[in-house]
Amino acid sequence: MDILGIGYLGFESAKIDEWRDYGPNVLGLGIAPSPESDPESLFFKLDDRRYRMAFHPGPLDQLAYIGWEAKGRLEYLAALERLEEAGVEAEIGDADLAARRGVRELVRFKDPVGFQHELFYAQKWMPGSFVPGRPHGGFETDERGMGHLVVITPEYHDGLEHFLTRVLGFRWYGAGAGKGRTGFFRSKLNDKTSHDIAYGHGPGMRGIQHIGLYVKRIADVGITHDLVKKRNIPMMMTLGQHTQDPHLSFYHFTPSGFAIETIFEVEPWHPELHELNPEKLSVWGHELVGPILGPSVRKVEETESA
Ligand SMILES: [Fe+2]
Repeated sequence: MDILGIGYLGFESAKIDEWRDYGPNVLGLGIAPSPESDPESLFFKLDDRRYRMAFHPGPLDQLAYIGWEAKGRLEYLAALERLEEAGVEAEIGDADLAARRGVRELVRFKDPVGFQHELFYAQKWMPGSFVPGRPHGGFETDERGMGHLVVITPEYHDGLEHFLTRVLGFRWYGAGAGKGRTGFFRSKLNDKTSHDIAYGHGPGMRGIQHIGLYVKRIADVGITHDLVKKRNIPMMMTLGQHTQDPHLSFYHFTPSGFAIETIFEVEPWHPELHELNPEKLSVWGHELVGPILGPSVRKVEETESA
């Protein structure tokens, strides 16, 4: 499928008031107006798209949907054919849902381990409309999508990899440096970053572990780091540089209990000659100073009873 990357992410959250302060004032996100039909939800801008992150009120802080962006209408129609051919149960979003998402059309489907995905094209956009919540140099988006996502799944089986690589057409990046079974994938059209999504196997556990947001200026890694320390926000990993990716980054916990990796790309990413098998996660830094699985990764029973 001709997918560019993650266009938007949707969350359920019991901490919307905290996000309303934290999102703009720590991360530098812009607040987008909520549509009249959905006044309780909170929408954040990372760029000139109508929004990139949506938080809908709910009892549990968890990932609600992953919105993949098809390049355009023809690529979207081809993707619908592919889903049907592969026997994936898919539901076309009605006009009301498309309007709420701010896209032309979308389809909803689940992956074999139960995460909700959406595929859309043509999200509303207005040049010059991004106003950061605090002085900020902006986020790297567009060609690579809005960033990356790591989820923890209770089951990791061949059916999942088949779905990601053969149905969605993602490229395989590698297994990373972790001990358990993990897979990193990127959408077919994304040649700017190593991965859009990773699935980590956590027996009995499910949830979102972290998202990665790319900032345009190295100073915005440092300023975000200063603000996190000033507010005593819990950290997951200290500043460091990844082995496989040319990233300077650190990880801290959001009000929803998953982490954000604030990333500055030290040099442009390019695909490797061969699959890398790193000795360790990072060349320096990234000391684990908090739980690797935050409170947003829960026992399966807790996510099912919600
Ligand atoms: Fe990351």
